[in-house]
Parts: sequence; C-alpha cells; structure tokens
Amino acid sequence: MMSKHEKTYVAKADFMLHGGDYNPDQWLDRPDILSDDIKLMQLAHTNTFSVGIFAWSTLEPEEGVYNFEWLDNIIDNIYKIGGRIILATPSGARPAWMSEKYPEVLRVNGSRVKQLHGGRHNHCFTSGVYREKTQQMNRLLAERYGNHPALVMWHISNEYGGECHCDQCQEAFRTWLKDKYNNDLKALNDSWWGPFWSHTFSDWSQIESPSPIGENAVHGLNLDWRRFVTDQTIDFYKNEIVPIREITPEIPITTNFMADTFDLIPFQSLDYSKFSKHLDVISWDAYPAWHNDWESTANLAMKVAFIDDLYRSLKQQPFLLMESTPSLVNWHEVNKAKRPGMHLLSSMQMIAHGSDSVMYFQWRKSRGSSEKFHGAVVDHDNSSENRVFQEVAKVGQVLEKLPKVVGTNRPSDVAILYDWESNWALNDAQGYGLETKQYPQTLQEHYRPFWEKDIPVDVITKEQDFSPYKLLVVPMLYLMSEETIARLKAFVANGGRLVTTYISGVVNEYDLTYLGGWHKDLQEIFGLNPLETDTLYPKDENYVTFNNQKYLVKDYATIIDVNGAITEGTYLQDFYKSKPAVTSHSHEKGKTYYIGARLDEQFHRDFYSDLISELELKAIFPVKHSPGVSIQVRQGEDADYVFIMNFTEEQQVVVLDSEVTDMVTGEILSGEMTLDQYEVRIVEKSRGN
Ligand code: GAL
Repeated sequence: MMSKHEKTYVAKADFMLHGGDYNPDQWLDRPDILSDDIKLMQLAHTNTFSVGIFAWSTLEPEEGVYNFEWLDNIIDNIYKIGGRIILATPSGARPAWMSEKYPEVLRVNGSRVKQLHGGRHNHCFTSGVYREKTQQMNRLLAERYGNHPALVMWHISNEYGGECHCDQCQEAFRTWLKDKYNNDLKALNDSWWGPFWSHTFSDWSQIESPSPIGENAVHGLNLDWRRFVTDQTIDFYKNEIVPIREITPEIPITTNFMADTFDLIPFQSLDYSKFSKHLDVISWDAYPAWHNDWESTANLAMKVAFIDDLYRSLKQQPFLLMESTPSLVNWHEVNKAKRPGMHLLSSMQMIAHGSDSVMYFQWRKSRGSSEKFHGAVVDHDNSSENRVFQEVAKVGQVLEKLPKVVGTNRPSDVAILYDWESNWALNDAQGYGLETKQYPQTLQEHYRPFWEKDIPVDVITKEQDFSPYKLLVVPMLYLMSEETIARLKAFVANGGRLVTTYISGVVNEYDLTYLGGWHKDLQEIFGLNPLETDTLYPKDENYVTFNNQKYLVKDYATIIDVNGAITEGTYLQDFYKSKPAVTSHSHEKGKTYYIGARLDEQFHRDFYSDLISELELKAIFPVKHSPGVSIQVRQGEDADYVFIMNFTEEQQVVVLDSEVTDMVTGEILSGEMTLDQYEVRIVEKSRGN
C-alpha cells in the first residue's frame, strides 16, 4: 500500500544521522575548544551536524562584508572525521546592522506595535529587503558549499512561525484576498457574513488583519488570515530556496517543524499539511516533558507516537528528529533531567515511528545568554565522562547497528484525520465549551487504543488519499468542505469504514454553518441527523450504555435523529435519556459509525476493539504485554525491525513467539524477554519466519 521508499532522500547518507545543532560561531576565540569538539564528536559516536543556524552576524558582520573562513574550517574538520553537514540558512535571526539600517525587516505585532531588534524568529515575512538579503546570503552559501562532499541537506531557517501586521503585510493580505475572491468584494463580504455588526466592506483598503484593538469577531476573516500567514511563510521560504534549488538541485531541503511541548499537539500557527508539500524531508524538534508530575510515562509516550505518526504521514516517508535534548531543557516550568535509560528509550521511540535520525539541541552548551543551562551533549565541564555524554554515546552505538532501518516505513490499515484549518475554526468558534474543545487532544484519545495494541496508524490530512485504509477515523472535524464530504462519501461507498463524532461537519470552508440540518451526504452515509449538541459542566453526570457496559460522558453530548442508522449506544440520563448516542450504518459497500458524545478512555478501547477484530487489524509483531509496553515496527523489504519499549517504571516481561535477532548484540532470541524500567530492545524478524 505504501510506496516503497527510496533510501536516497538524505543525499549521500544511508546511515542513521546522529548529532545536532553545532554553533561554533560562539567559540571562535577558543580554538582549543573547537579542536576538543572534533575529538568529542568521535567519542560521542556522532556523525552529522547542523551548522550556521543563527550565524548571520558572524557570516556577514557588516553589510556586504563576508566571513566564511571559519565555516570552511569547521566543515572541513568535520568531514575529515567522516562527519556530515546539514547546512542552515541563517534567516532565523539577523544582525543588528540590518534592523538598524532597514527597519522594515522588524515585525509589527497584532496591536500594531513595531518590535525592536532582539530575540530571533521575528522578521517580517513580506519585507522585500529581508527577502533580498536572505536570498543573497543563501546564494553565497550554496555557491561556496554546494559541492562540499560533507553536505547532505539544507536546513532552511529555523522553526518558522509567528506573524507580522506591518503595512506591507496588510497590502500583501489584501492582494491575497483579491486573488482568492477574484476581485469580487461582494463575494468576500458574503463569505465573511458581512452585515453582522455592520461589517460589510465597501473598499478593499478597509480590510485589516485581525487585531486585539480592532477586528477579531469575523471568523471568516480570522480563518483567511491564518491561511494567509501560512501561505506568506511558505512564500518567504520559497524565496529563500531559489538559489539553493538552482545551485544544488540534488541536495534535499528541510525546515524544522515544531509541536506544543506539554500536550504534544501539532504546532498550531502554520498549516503544516500545506508547508510539507514544499519540503523534501519533514523534520521536527521534540521536547516532551518526560517524568512530569501530571501523567504517566506511557501516556506521554502515546502522545509522542501520535505526533510522530502525523509528521511521518505528511509525506508518507521517514522523517528526521532534528532537535531533542540529551538531558533537560531550560524553558519548561520545571526542567527535569531524563532519568538513566530514558534518553535511549525516547530516542529509539522516534526511530520506531519513522525517524532516520537522533539530533540534539545542542552539541555544546553555551557559556552565556539564555541557553547556557539548556542540556547539550558537551557540558561546561568539557568532559566525555559524565552521565549525559555517555548516554549520548550509547545512542550513537545503537544507531550504528541500525543502517538497515534507514528508509523503511510503517504501512498501516488505519488512518486518523487531523486538520489544521478545522482546528483554527473550532478554536475560534464562540460556542461549545470554551476550554473543552480540545480537538488535537481528542484525536489522541482515538489514537490511544491502537497504540495500546501496537497497531500501526497513519495520521493523515484531508487532502491525502483515503483509499489505502480499511478504517478512517475522523473525530470532531468541525470544518468540512463539500469536497471533503464528497471524498468521505466515496471512501465509504467503496467499502471503507468511517468513524466520526459530535461537532463534525458543522461549517464549510468559509466557516459558515451548513443550513437545513447536517449536510445531506453526511445524513445519507451516517443515516442520521445530529439535532443539538449539549455542553456539560465538569460536575454534570451522564452515561452511555454500549454493549451492556456503561461509559462516562464528558463535555459534549449530541442528540441525534436516527434515520436508518442502528442505535448501538444510548444515553442513560437527562432529557435525552434512552436516546441514541452511538450508531452504525451501512452505506453501499462500506459502513459508518457516529459517536455522539465525548466518552471515556474505556469506551474508546472497547469500541475500537470490536472494529479491530472485525476488520482483522493486527499488530505487525503480535506479543501480549502489560500496559505501558509499546512494540512498534518498521518494515523493510525482507524483514521487520521491531522496537520493544518499556515506558513504565517497573520490570516487564514479554514472550516472543518466534526467533528474532537482537540488532544490537547479534544474539538470537526467543521465549521470555525481560525489560527493565525504560529499557528498549530492537530486534529483527525476517519475513517468512
Ligand atoms: C528550539 C530551537 C533551538 C533551541 C531549542 C531549545 O525551539 O529551534 O534553537 O532554542 O528550542 O529547546
């Protein structure tokens, strides 16, 4: 089902990348340290370094005055020890001379306040000057290093994000709108529900981006602004890569994506489903708060797995872990160190879900400024003996045993659909519970039962092909365009199983509600019409009975008018007592399920357990185990690479029902395998065993 992956997506590298952000520009007056770095890199079993990320003021200390010699030396020295380079473009932060001379590069915030020079990740994406300057710099980098044998990839800028509201951006937004609405202001007013609060525009010039001191109640405007910000960011990125594509067409390009750390939900401000189309390789920066005091290790592991499966599925190919910490970060409220073993386990989890790298922020701890206490491979002690360094070296040694895993994927029969636009629109909606919408978290809840049973899942977006999947789970898809509805209908008609829930298919792509009940195609495929959605207080009690079990209702309960669907579960209380809450319906060759209420964890387990049996969805490496153990597989041509991971604080035993080879020790294993707290074992099972 999945296209066979070619190993060439990281040019010239068919091994697992191990290394990270290296900022030698902070140490140029310490040649002793730079030479220690080279020795330590070998001791740490690292092989790849991202350089130049924030190096602009060193590369171009004055306008038009360039200084590349230090970078030549760094790249050459790394290459001499067999290392590889991911070369960054430095646009994530700019030199002070530029902000001073060309203030248009500085951002203006939503309240229309122009920002001062400082920080990073804060340039105007529209600024012609910044676009010109970045292209100039990128051309010089590509010309100078494009043919260097160490270069394996481009790292464009750093963690694109944020928005600018300056006059140039306002103009660009209006141009974007004219283009979208074919110069038809009436079409825009109609889409934005203009007459509401007298918001009809009589001239394009009256339109401004949303602002806390201005317009923020027009949902169509908010949604279009978010889309514009994504498009403008991509446009800036596309401008950055012009010289790079021209000079080094064979070197792949990435930029590092992000996630929200605490909930491990996708980064919210940019629509990565659009951005990913312009990248060769997805990479992301993962900083889960391991050992936190609000959830189990296994719960956090499930959430990491979810987002990995989303970012892997964006291109249906392996991704790169571009940044992680070997120990702790400096920006959580409590910056807890990874306990012994956790670094290997958390790194291998990324590999298990499709990463072809383990990379760090950063190689060497800074001496000054805000990141001087952020974890790094080399600490201020400059030692290779400390615990963190040793754990990094261990990861390196393990990765050296895994070249066969590079380029392999994780075919799946199940997909869960995530949509950035729908999330924006739902969060914007003045309705439901203001704190309880939690769309990405809801998706995690639907992902959990599959993760617990080791069944691989793709987390896909609405434009991706649905046809490879037996089961498509589409919870809380508030915004559904006619096109998405038609695609879902075709999926079911062709034999697919489709699950949706409360608060789905409420508005179209303009954030306008559907009229006359649920969309007729949704009514047809689900055999029902959702009539009302009740929002519950935390103390409200209601239950749904399903298969003779009782499950707790939280936050949302939809009252359904069944019209052909079979009632599978009913409410136990309130004025909708005995009314349908969960239904199923056959439509053409397929079948649909509607879950009308937000139900507890056990419901999801039981509900999906039935579907899993019926559809014969299986773990690739089926082994019984206790909760908190996760077994994830990457599939090569002739063998499965199996990651057996203990995300608990207790010893666990799993029983292997076939012979496998330990990929690290080479031992042949069968029968009982004991895993200590946080232990991971990686085994190879050849096909046909
Ligand atoms: C990332 C960023 C890095 C570093 C890191 C610290 O978001 O890309 O440059 O600041 O956070 O955790």
